[in-house]
Amino acid sequence: MPLQAFSLRSFFSILSLLFLSLAMSTSLAQSGGNHPWSNSSLSPDERASMVVKEMTIDEKINMLHGTGMQGLSPMSPLAVSSNRGAGYVPGIPRLGIPAIQMSDAAYGVRSSGENGRYSTALPSDVAGAASWDLDAAYEYGALIGRELRAQGFNMSLGGGTNLTREPRNGRTFEYLGEDPVLAGKMVGSVMKGLQAQHVLGDIKHYALNDQESGRNAVNITIDKRAARESDLLAFEIGLQESDAAAVMCSYNRMDGDYACENKYLLTDVLKKDWKFKGFVLSDWGGTHSTEKASAAGLDHEQPGWIFYGDDFKKAVESGKIPAAELDDHVHRILRAMFATGVIDDPPQKSVVDVVGGFEVTQKLAEQSTVLLKNDHGQLPLDASKIRSIAVIGPHADVGMISGGGSAQVDPPGGNAIMPPGKGQTRWLEKIWFPTSPLKAIRAKAPDAKVQFASGADPAAAAALAKSADVAIVFAYQWESEGMDLESLSLPEHQDELIAKVAAANPHTIVVLESGTAVTMPWVDQVSGILEAWYAGSRGAEAVANVIFGDVNPSAKLPMTFPKSEADLPHPTIVKPPKVTVDADHQGWKRIAAGLPAFPVTYDEGVKVGYKWYDAENKPALFPFGYGLSYTTYSYSNLKVAPGKNPRVTFTVTNTGNRAGAEVAQVYASLPAAAAEPPKRLVGWSKVKLNGGESKEVTVDVDPKYLSIFNVEHNGWQLLPGDYGFMVGGSSQSLPLKESVTLK
Ligand code: BGC
Repeated sequence: MPLQAFSLRSFFSILSLLFLSLAMSTSLAQSGGNHPWSNSSLSPDERASMVVKEMTIDEKINMLHGTGMQGLSPMSPLAVSSNRGAGYVPGIPRLGIPAIQMSDAAYGVRSSGENGRYSTALPSDVAGAASWDLDAAYEYGALIGRELRAQGFNMSLGGGTNLTREPRNGRTFEYLGEDPVLAGKMVGSVMKGLQAQHVLGDIKHYALNDQESGRNAVNITIDKRAARESDLLAFEIGLQESDAAAVMCSYNRMDGDYACENKYLLTDVLKKDWKFKGFVLSDWGGTHSTEKASAAGLDHEQPGWIFYGDDFKKAVESGKIPAAELDDHVHRILRAMFATGVIDDPPQKSVVDVVGGFEVTQKLAEQSTVLLKNDHGQLPLDASKIRSIAVIGPHADVGMISGGGSAQVDPPGGNAIMPPGKGQTRWLEKIWFPTSPLKAIRAKAPDAKVQFASGADPAAAAALAKSADVAIVFAYQWESEGMDLESLSLPEHQDELIAKVAAANPHTIVVLESGTAVTMPWVDQVSGILEAWYAGSRGAEAVANVIFGDVNPSAKLPMTFPKSEADLPHPTIVKPPKVTVDADHQGWKRIAAGLPAFPVTYDEGVKVGYKWYDAENKPALFPFGYGLSYTTYSYSNLKVAPGKNPRVTFTVTNTGNRAGAEVAQVYASLPAAAAEPPKRLVGWSKVKLNGGESKEVTVDVDPKYLSIFNVEHNGWQLLPGDYGFMVGGSSQSLPLKESVTLK
C-alpha cells in the first residue's frame, strides 16, 4: 500500500469540505454557533453525543487523523488553515466545531515559524519536578496554556511523564524524574494549570518509552505488576489528578505489540481500569495499522492519514470496524473539546506577554535550582566582600544550554551563539538561550572584577581562577530527543577543566546545566555545586540570585545521581542491531511500515531510581530527594494515625536565621510479604518557614501508594501488616520513623 496515498474520491470529498469550510464564516466556527450542543449546561458527554449524531462518515474520518507535517510529509489541502504546529485537525464549521491546532509545548511553546518567536522558555520539565511544588507546576502549565492561546493553538503536546528508569535517555529533561508519585502529581498539576486556560492537555509517551535508541523498534518486556507500580502508576496518578484530554501513545513496543496498537495498554489499563474518557493519539508516525490499532483503543493518528484515512473508512463500510467503534473515537475527541472549553472559548491570537513570561520563568528557575554541595558555607557569596570572580565555561559569557528535539523552544533573542536574526532552531542543534551568566554575575557584584574564560584552554582558565577570589564554572551536558547519552560524564573535557580550576582555586563553585544526572569525578575538589538544569529564558538571573543569596535554594533532586554508570541497572543502553532511521524525525514514514524489533528487558522491574540503590545497597553520589538550603531544618514529633488514608503528622523547624522552604518527604516500607524494595515515596509537603519557626505538617497518604498491584485480581491491594513511615529531608536522611499496623 503506498504510504500517505489517498484516493481521488477522498481527494474530492476533502476538497468539497475545504470549500464548505471556507464558505462558512470563521466566526461561526469559533463561537460554536447556535446549535443544541452549544448549551454549556449540558455535560460534555451529552454535547459530544449530539454532535456525533449529526456527523457524516467523512467528517468523522477527518477527525481521526492529522493533515500532514510541513517539510516531513505530504500535506492535505485541508491543512490550509493550520497554524503550522506539529498537528492540525480541521474543524467542521457547519456544526460549529473548531479545528484542533496542536503545538509541542514541553517547557514552553515550540517554534512554529513566526508564531514561535516569542515563547517563554521555562526551566526544563525535570527542573520543574525538582521544585516539588504543585503550585509552581500549575503556574508552569498555565503559562504554557496562555502562550499557546496567544499563538492560536488549542492543544498542547507537552506532558512528558516517562519515569527516569534510564538516566542516559536523551529526553530525561522532558520528564519528571524517577518516582511515580512525584511525576504523577507534578504532571497532574501542570495539566490542571494548562487546561484551566481552555487548552487540550496531553500526557505522553504512553508507555515505557524510556530510551531513544531504537525507540521505534525496541520491544520492552517488563513484569506487569512492576509496570503498574512504576511507569504506569505515574500516568495513572497524572490522569486521576487532572482529567487530561489526551494521552499520546509511544513509539516502542511492549510485549510484542506497538504501544499504539497495544490492547493491554490502551484499552485494558487506560480506558477500562483508569476510566480514561479522553482520546489517545499516536506519537508522530507511531500508528502501524488500521483495524488492530482501532480495536486496541487508538483514537487518532498523527501526523498524517496512512491508516486512519481512506483505509479506516473502507474498514467501517465493509463492517471490519464497527460503526460504534468509529463513533467512540470521535465522541472521545469531541467530549475532550467540550470538557476543556476549546469549543466554548476558542483562542484569539494576541501578543505573547514576554515580560510577564520572564518573571514567571525566573521565579520557577529559582525554585528549581538544587544546591548539592556547600562546604564551609561558601555560598551565598557576599558581593560587598568579593573583589574578583572568574566566570568559566563554554558560552557562559552569553547563554545557557537548552534541551533539543520537539521540546525545543525558540525564546526571545534566539540562539545566543548565532548571529542575531537567524531563523528558527534546527533539529539536533545545540541552542544556547540568551541568558548570560557573566552579565548576571556582573550585575550582582558591580564592584568586583568579573572576568571570563571559556575553558577551551584549561590552563588559561586555571590561571584566571588562581587570580580570583572565587571561580564559578558553568558546565553543561546537552541532550535531545532522537539521541541518548553515551555516559553521564560532562562532554568537551569539562571534567578536566573543573579539576584544573579547582586545583588552582579552593573556592570553586560548579553550576551544572544538565537535563539528567551527571557524574562528578571532581566532587571532592570543589567547594560548591549547584544543579541548575536547563534553566530557561532567565536561567542566569535565577542562578545569580541563588549564588548571591537573594534566593534561598529549596529544590530537591527528582532523580538519583549515581557515583558511576556501573551502578545503573543496565551497564549500557541496548541499541538496535544496526543503525536505522529510528531515532530521527525524518524517517517516520518508514517507521510506520514497521522496523524489525529488538528486545530490551526491564529486569530491574519496580526498582527504578532510589528503589534500585536501596535494594542493591549501592550508595549514591547524591540521592533522590536531596538538596541543601542556606538554612537548616530539624524534624520532630512524628505521629501516624492509621485508617483508610493514613494521616502522617510531624513538626519541621527552621533551625537557622534565614527564611526558607523545606520539601519534607514521607516514605513508607511495606510488610515483608509484599516483597517490595525497602521504601517508596508516599507523599510530601513543601513548607515555608522563617528563621527559628516551627510548623506542624500533615500528609494524608493515598492508600494506593501503600498498595501492591495484584495482577491476578487486576487491582490494587493493601496487604494487612506492619508499615514503616519515615520522614525527613531526602530519601537518605529520614530522622523520624514509626511503624503502624494497617488492616
Ligand atoms: C515526539 C513527540 C512530539 C511529536 C510532534 C515526536 O517525534 O516523540 O513527543 O510531540 O514528535 O512533534
